[in-house]
Amino acid sequence: MVKIAISGICGKMGRTLLTSISERTDCEVCCGIDIGEATGCPVPVCKTPAEMQEKPDVIIDYSHPSTLNGLLDYALATGTPVVLATTGYSDAQLQQIRKAAESAALFSSFNMSIGIQLLIALSKKAAAVLGNQFDIEIIEKHHNQKVDAPSGTALMLANALCAEFDPPKHLTYDRHSVRRKREIAEIGMHSIRGGTIVGEHEVLFAGPDECISLRHTASSKRVFAEGSVNAALFLIGKEPGLYDMTHLLDEA
Ligand SMILES: NC(=O)c1ccc[n+]([C@@H]2O[C@H](COP(=O)([O-])OP(=O)(O)OC[C@H]3O[C@@H](n4cnc5c(N)ncnc54)[C@H](O)[C@@H]3O)[C@@H](O)[C@H]2O)c1
Repeated sequence: MVKIAISGICGKMGRTLLTSISERTDCEVCCGIDIGEATGCPVPVCKTPAEMQEKPDVIIDYSHPSTLNGLLDYALATGTPVVLATTGYSDAQLQQIRKAAESAALFSSFNMSIGIQLLIALSKKAAAVLGNQFDIEIIEKHHNQKVDAPSGTALMLANALCAEFDPPKHLTYDRHSVRRKREIAEIGMHSIRGGTIVGEHEVLFAGPDECISLRHTASSKRVFAEGSVNAALFLIGKEPGLYDMTHLLDEA
């Protein structure tokens, strides 16, 4: 039985993950890490990875970028693999993750759903066919509690699309402060926040007299929870490195 520690266990994703794992027979949650109120949590909860009484086989993190140092220190000191599902890391933190992955097995994806991986693949295919004849705009929608914008998934989509073009496109977040026409090299990024929207990502290709729209909608957080448990099980026993959903799909 694989023992999983959940970082951010008191949060929305942490609680969803607890439920998902409780329905499985191949793994169990042994403890949690969270600075929040842990009353009623069915497993022991501590405030930092270093305080964990039991060494887990793997950690799944859905918390906050501020937890990164503690998680990476623990991974490097104990050889424990970590699934980093938190979003909103700075460029310096992303660099820190790449450096730590030279000595620890880390899995990082800003979106753990398999459908999003397909959306990325389809969007890249569309970009390759449509080229610079079509303007690309990415529209993401999330609940009103989300703190980072644009979503990590929107950035993942945008980066994948930028790499399809030579010269590469650049991202435009704000059109209100400049008065000029849209450039062909732009990918427009739009973040909508409201209600309880779980997560929606749309890639709009707007061309001369026709538009194509590719959209993924997550209707429950369980899609992310299931994806991250699969990532955690995949990561156990892996050599140090930075893994993502493409590696998981390749092995499936
Ligand atoms: N990769 C994905 O597929 C995916 C899917 C959903 C959410 N997310 C990301 O996961 C993260 C958590 O999302 P959520 O909706 O559960 O948020 P949430 O705010 O409900 O939960 C975050 C939890 O982390 C805890 N926390 C915050 N700072 C901490 C610290 N320094 N040390 C220990 N615990 C700390 C909080 O107390 C809280 O319980 C966000 O970054 C979100 O964008 C990623």
